[in-house]
Amino acid sequence: MSFRTETGTDLEKARQLLEAGEVVAIPTETVYGLAANALTPDAVVKIFEAKQRPRFNPLIIHLPDWNAVAKYTIDIPKEAELLARQFTPGPLTFLLKKSDLIPDLVTAGSPKVAVRIPAHPLTHQLLSKLDFPLSAPSANPFGYVSPTTAQHVYESLNGRIPYILDGGPCKVGVESTIVDFEDGEVIVRRKGGTSLEAMAGVLGHQPILKTGVEEHPVAPGQLKSHYATTTPLYVGDLPALAEKFSGKKTCIIAFGNNAAGLEAFKLFQLSELGSTEEAAKNLFSVMRRADQCGADVIIAGWLPETGLGPAINDRLSRAQKQG
Ligand code: TXA
Ligand code: MG
Repeated sequence: MSFRTETGTDLEKARQLLEAGEVVAIPTETVYGLAANALTPDAVVKIFEAKQRPRFNPLIIHLPDWNAVAKYTIDIPKEAELLARQFTPGPLTFLLKKSDLIPDLVTAGSPKVAVRIPAHPLTHQLLSKLDFPLSAPSANPFGYVSPTTAQHVYESLNGRIPYILDGGPCKVGVESTIVDFEDGEVIVRRKGGTSLEAMAGVLGHQPILKTGVEEHPVAPGQLKSHYATTTPLYVGDLPALAEKFSGKKTCIIAFGNNAAGLEAFKLFQLSELGSTEEAAKNLFSVMRRADQCGADVIIAGWLPETGLGPAINDRLSRAQKQG
């Protein structure tokens, strides 16, 4: 199906399209999502088609508030309640046992559903008007960098969806942290916009990290090359990479002063002051600009493993040229 894709802030239009079983791009604080009625497989299928995403990859459902979660899940563990009190609405997604209302297509057959309460005023209003949850993956074609502005969504999905609800640039900039609960343990399946330190502060202990791709295919979206730029991207010791590619048109993705003294064809800064929050917010825009700047290669250094640094390093590592 082909559409004339419109962008705007018309909540009523978004609501009508979603109620009619269509797909609409929506803003969240993390990245833009590609949303459809989660209770109607015919609508959910359209997300997979627009994104060209494999159907074995399950989707997150979005709800207006934590009270709505009880209807679509069963046996919510007390650790989930604890984290929800602190971090919802916000960039944390909970893997919970699903109720029969959630179609198997949404969870790719898993008995658990991923649930999130996004913190974006426009999308909160939209979700409050609907009597169904919205299933929404990031609104990028499968395998490419996630979108953090309405324009990013337009660039890659123009003609494939009818409407983009424009909520401005995303404030967090990396996807939600995904947390799972098994036998009393709290397991982080994807690093994201809620830091591990903040979660440990609430839980009183470190959550377990099981984000590996091969070892734990429970989150199949954790495919290795998932945020890939078209221009090859390498991450590592920045001076060494600059030296290695000195004969090429090199684009540096810098953080703080880590590119000081290095020569480059282009340089994009994630955060002048070395803030991982600011870097997360800029990450996907910078990756897109780097990809489009005419360089032969993109190079970046690792960020510190604190705050949102781990989530950013994860995205950079998965965007890296393989082999
Ligand atoms: O911040 C976010 O989480 C954004 C915004 C739009 O909410 N959404 C997002 O969705 O990043 P997506 O589909 O790009 O990534 C969701 C991840 C995938 O890796 C998927 O495999 C995993 O969540 N996931 C979803 N449902 C799951 C389930 N039932 N069991 C295990 N993993 C699941
Ligand atoms: Mg995604």
